[in-house]
Amino acid sequence: MPAHQRVIVPDFLYGTAWKEDRTPALTELAIRTGFRAIDTANQRRHYFEAGVGQGLAAAYRAGVVTRAELFLQTKFTYVGGQDHRLPYDPEADLSTQVAQSMGSSLEHLGTDQVDSYVLHGPASGRGWSDADAEVWAAMVKQRDAGRTRLLGVSNVSIRHLEQMAMDGAELPRFVQNRCFARLGWDRDVRAFCDALGCAERQIVYQGFSLLTANVDVLRHRLLAGIAARLGATPAQVVFRFARAVGMLPLTGTSDPEHMTQDLASGELALSADEVQAIESLAG
Ligand SMILES: NC(=O)c1ccc[n+]([C@@H]2O[C@H](COP(=O)([O-])OP(=O)(O)OC[C@H]3O[C@@H](n4cnc5c(N)ncnc54)[C@H](OP(=O)(O)O)[C@@H]3O)[C@@H](O)[C@H]2O)c1
Repeated sequence: MPAHQRVIVPDFLYGTAWKEDRTPALTELAIRTGFRAIDTANQRRHYFEAGVGQGLAAAYRAGVVTRAELFLQTKFTYVGGQDHRLPYDPEADLSTQVAQSMGSSLEHLGTDQVDSYVLHGPASGRGWSDADAEVWAAMVKQRDAGRTRLLGVSNVSIRHLEQMAMDGAELPRFVQNRCFARLGWDRDVRAFCDALGCAERQIVYQGFSLLTANVDVLRHRLLAGIAARLGATPAQVVFRFARAVGMLPLTGTSDPEHMTQDLASGELALSADEVQAIESLAG
């Protein structure tokens, strides 16, 4: 594997969506609490990427971390997922939009390279389109130019991934999806990632909405029992489970205590039987 692609992947991602004016302070707090990986997007509708950059700058100034100690991930979002605050010229071709969005992200984040650049979502839910192929090729070009170390895709189905593979496209290093327990915690997509990854874990599955998409699981007596045994919360058990099955979980908590709990979940001792029971709890 080329050196530029060898990146130490963290074990938890702090998500910065929906924080608006609180974004700088919460990003800095997450880093002070111990998060070393930050997820954002150049999509002003849901993220304040420049605010993430302000939080990073504050953490650097205070000597909490250096840029080299952080894993920074951002995304390219199609016009359809944006509001009027666009980070590119919507009249430009897609490759130009990717280059402009990336340039703007680097400026927002105060860096000349991110660690991961993610296609926020394919153009259509039906399959991998020509537009996606064009955007993906432009993202590969950004990677080859050194503006990101790794590439990922988000909000994809197994069909998108299989079509990418069939097209002979370079496969992503990350898949970031909403993770529903009722779909076996996105079993099909995770199997695709693992099958191609095997020993080297070529594709790391990033799971978001692990709590909000699985409210019934959090209330389930199985989770309550395991949480009680461990002296933990059901939310912590879900995050520990996610890591046990090889996921890289995201949390976007705004609560300092939850930040600490989410990070500490990595220490919980789940048995193999418990992992298996949670995996098949809802689907
Ligand atoms: N690629 C995409 O399309 C996409 C879509 C959505 C999200 N994301 C990314 O994923 C990140 C996380 O988003 P999310 O959808 O998972 O939702 P989230 O913003 O993380 O919200 C999770 C909810 O769980 C609560 N929570 C967190 N830790 C907890 C704990 N230990 N105990 C109890 N409650 C806890 C939070 O409340 P408190 O704040 O009170 O703790 C919050 O209400 C986003 O910030 C974003 O970076 C990506």
